Amino acid sequence: MSRVFSGIQPSGVPTLGNYLGAIRNWVPLQDTQEAIYCVVDLHAITQWQDPADLRRQTREMAAALIACGLDPKRCILFVQSHVRAHAELAWIFNCVARLGWLNRMTQFKDKAGKNQEAVSSGLYVYPNLMAADIHAYHATKVPVGDDQKQHLELANDIAQKFNHDYGVDFFPNIEPLIQGVAARVMSLRDGSKKMSKSDPSDQSRINLTDDADTISQKIKRAKTDPEPLPEHMAGLEGRPEARNLVGILAAITGTLPENVLREHGGQGFGAFKSTLADALIAHLSPIAAEMKRLLEDQAALDAALRLGADRASAIAEPIVAKARDIVGF
Ligand code: ADP
Ligand code: NA
Repeated sequence: MSRVFSGIQPSGVPTLGNYLGAIRNWVPLQDTQEAIYCVVDLHAITQWQDPADLRRQTREMAAALIACGLDPKRCILFVQSHVRAHAELAWIFNCVARLGWLNRMTQFKDKAGKNQEAVSSGLYVYPNLMAADIHAYHATKVPVGDDQKQHLELANDIAQKFNHDYGVDFFPNIEPLIQGVAARVMSLRDGSKKMSKSDPSDQSRINLTDDADTISQKIKRAKTDPEPLPEHMAGLEGRPEARNLVGILAAITGTLPENVLREHGGQGFGAFKSTLADALIAHLSPIAAEMKRLLEDQAALDAALRLGADRASAIAEPIVAKARDIVGF
């Protein structure tokens, strides 16, 4: 049994990308591994969040995770800022990671855009905090979407440099678990960008709370090309938007993109999009309903998260205390 850690930012409502690339894959790990899942509010404030919105979105994210199948009895589910060890270890890692390493992070470039001078320094050192999230638990397996692969490599570089500089064998190597046919879901408006809850355009994503009409309308307006669907995978070459929609239908119906093309190849996007919208609505509406129910009892939700934080602290505090001792504090 390995210790698994993963996190998600409460910077909006979870998207279909978060669900297919991450959350859905977290559920079975609860029963086969020691699973620790975290709503990472410290990460969220790397970009401006209104305080009231942040509080609400943190609860909504926790409710969404439970509605998707995480059970606070079968995993440790908590809010990052409730466990002080994350921020403390992150500072140590800020002093281990090299500027040159951070300069190579493509997500920073994507998020900062042309405005690199004006973004927070937190956004720049975000991968160091992510490394701390994982290493504070000595977790060795990290189920994430494909977009996080580079950050996990950096987390391993940090662990190795820490171990080397202090002459210890303290932080273990971590292994990404990148799963499923939709490990990277792309924006509905631009097939070259990943779907993200922090994208300014709501039309670019499906939110887990979208109602049936909203899902239909967003899928109907999703960018496509004029050709019908191909019969084989090779026909998706150079057609990122078509590939994305095929991947989503495959993931949501539990099949492979090849099989989707076998069934729908030759169809125009009008018909295909209506099949896709129906499948999404059938899959997502029970989740939205359960999330709503959970949010009606805020006290119960908060109590579950406090308990999760206590269990998380019990693991992280001794590990970070040892790291302090190694550093010379
Ligand atoms: P976002 O970019 O939507 O704010 P987060 O940074 O909170 O997402 O990431 C939470 C988890 O969701 C991570 O494991 C990440 O890899 C996964 N994820 C985020 N966007 C996508 C996507 N478009 N496709 C697949 N997985 C994704
Ligand atoms: Na992200």
